[in-house]
Parts: sequence; C-alpha cells; structure tokens
Amino acid sequence: MGDELLKLENLSIEYKVKGGYLSAVKGVDLIINSGEIFAIVGESGCGKSTVAHSIMRLLPENSVRISGNIFFKGEKLNEKSNREIEKIRGKHIGMIFQNPLDSLNPVYTTGYQVAEAIYLDNKNRKEVWKQVLRLYRDVKMPDAEKRIHSFPHELSGGMRQRVMIAMMLSRKPELLIADEPTTALDVTIEAQILQIMKELKDVYNTSIMLITHNFGLVAEIADRIGVMYAGEIVEQGDVYEIFENPIHPYTKLLMKALPRKTKAEGRLQTIEGTVPRLTEVKPGCRFANRCPMAKDVCFDEDPMTRNVNENHFYRCHRGKEAI
Ligand SMILES: Nc1ncnc2c1ncn2[C@@H]1O[C@H](COP(=O)(O)OP(=O)(O)O)[C@@H](O)[C@H]1O
Ligand SMILES: [Mg+2]
Repeated sequence: MGDELLKLENLSIEYKVKGGYLSAVKGVDLIINSGEIFAIVGESGCGKSTVAHSIMRLLPENSVRISGNIFFKGEKLNEKSNREIEKIRGKHIGMIFQNPLDSLNPVYTTGYQVAEAIYLDNKNRKEVWKQVLRLYRDVKMPDAEKRIHSFPHELSGGMRQRVMIAMMLSRKPELLIADEPTTALDVTIEAQILQIMKELKDVYNTSIMLITHNFGLVAEIADRIGVMYAGEIVEQGDVYEIFENPIHPYTKLLMKALPRKTKAEGRLQTIEGTVPRLTEVKPGCRFANRCPMAKDVCFDEDPMTRNVNENHFYRCHRGKEAI
C-alpha cells in the first residue's frame, strides 16, 4: 500500500434542522492510502453521503456545522478557499453519483462531454478524441466508436455510469469517490461496473472511496472497509479481517443480509428498526436500541474505539466477548 492520501480526523457534521441540529456524522477517523479501495458500508441514512460531500465541499454551506479535519495529500482541505477547492474537484478528486443523468448534460453527446473534461488539460482536439475513444474502450463500452456519439438518453443506465467513470478517470484524479454508483443498476451490470473500477484503479493510479449499503458488493473489490452506523464508524479493517472476524453486532447483521440473488428479492434484509435521526446527542452506543447484544452499559456510556490488531478497530462494549 502506498502513502496516506486522504485522512479524516475526528470529523463531525451536523445539519441545521427544525428545533436544533441533527448529528449526521460524528467523530469519524479514517485514512485512505494511495492505491487502495476503501469501502464505506452502512444502511441508508447512516451519513455516508454526508462524509463524501464534505470532502468535496458540496454540503449546503448555510445549514451545516463541521468540525474536525480533512487532509488530502497532507494538506488541510477544510482550510482552503472555495476557489482552491474548485481546482481540486475533478482534477485531483473525482466523484461519481448514483444517478449519472444528474451529472450529464442532455443536449450534448456523451463523448463530447468526456472530451470537454480532457480538454481542460489537453488542448489538442485530435488527441483528445483519441483519448475519449480509449477511455470508452477502457470502461468496456459496447460499440465504443458509435457510443461516443450517443446522447445520454440513448444509453442504458449501465452505459451512462461507464461514461461517468470514463469522464472522471480522464483527468487521472488521485482519488475517486463513488457514492452508491451501482445502486440503480441490475446485479449483472453492477458486478461488471465494479470490476471495471477495480481494473482501472491500477491503470489510472486512482484510489477509490466506494460507498454502498450493500455488504455483498465489497468483498471482491475493497481492500479495507469502514462500517458506518448513525454517523459513526463502528468497525474498520482489512476486508479479510472484517469478513472472517466481524466483531460489531451491526457488522454481523449487515453481513447476515447476504447473499442476495436478485435486487427484487434481495433488498438488504432489513435489520429491525431504523437508523435514528439524532438531534439530541446523549451518551451511549447509537446502535443499542436495535442491538441483540445490548446490556445496560450500552445505553449509558459511549463505547471506546478498541483494536483487535493494528488493522482492525471496533466500537462496542460487548465486542471483547466476540473476539
Ligand atoms: N441537507 C440535509 N438537511 C438535513 N438533514 C440531512 C440533509 N442531508 C442528509 N440529512 C440527514 O443526515 C443523515 C445522513 O444522511 P446521508 O449522509 O444522506 O446518509 P446515507 O448517504 O448514508 O444514506 C440522515 O439522517 C439524513 O436524513
Ligand atoms: Mg447516500
């Protein structure tokens, strides 16, 4: 593994809501090294997108309170001006969202839009178009020569996501943040897209933060995993460690939701209860009220972060008994 590329240090984020502030992210510490795929896994509402958006400074500025630090290549992103952040966006950190149609312009061909991205760094039109075609082939676009001339509405969801990956990789960012990039796609296409991301990570030398609510997806592609619950990372470690020796009851329940065969039948088997929206921060484990292992202490005291080994951390009062 390479150097420390992204480091979140005690990151907390609150949204201003009616009657106070909602704690969407609390005390998140994580590091993504160059050359690795780090997956953030957790149910909907756990704060995954909030973390992603904070890195890119895409949160609604007037209604959030942020504390902690975001380091990228050793520099504090949270101390940079909006102009400086704009220069980093796309060029150094790229982002792919769940719905590519939100990011594509309906009136231009997809190839033209990828070309425009490359053109920011290379003004030779002929070379740029060659590169567009190469990228379409890299992302295994069927009929690449033809598809560079297709408009977004002429492509399937999977093809559009391939365009987004091509567009993001065209500028060779050091970090790619992919927020549920395959959630809207069917399982076969989903697997293909993830495989492409994994292959291209090495070709383009891009680290990936992969955000998903689906544990099943990450086993084959991630190097490390952070499990998020109600704004906190409750367990973090190497992918093998987490799959072989999960400690946190939430991680175990998420993993139990596997395997899933089709999207229709296999939507994440719900764990009873829902992710709380916390406007009042009280001591105690945020998962306690849904946890099959919870004891009194879990409701009264914040669990500390403990480590199983240097690559595996968890926050759970009952964890020791599970090791
Ligand atoms: N703009 C916003 N204003 C108020 N609350 C928000 C806003 N965006 C997200 N939230 C809340 O923050 C929490 C985390 O949301 P989010 O980061 O979108 O979770 P995830 O991506 O894991 O589904 C949720 O409770 C959500 O309702
Ligand atoms: Mg989200």
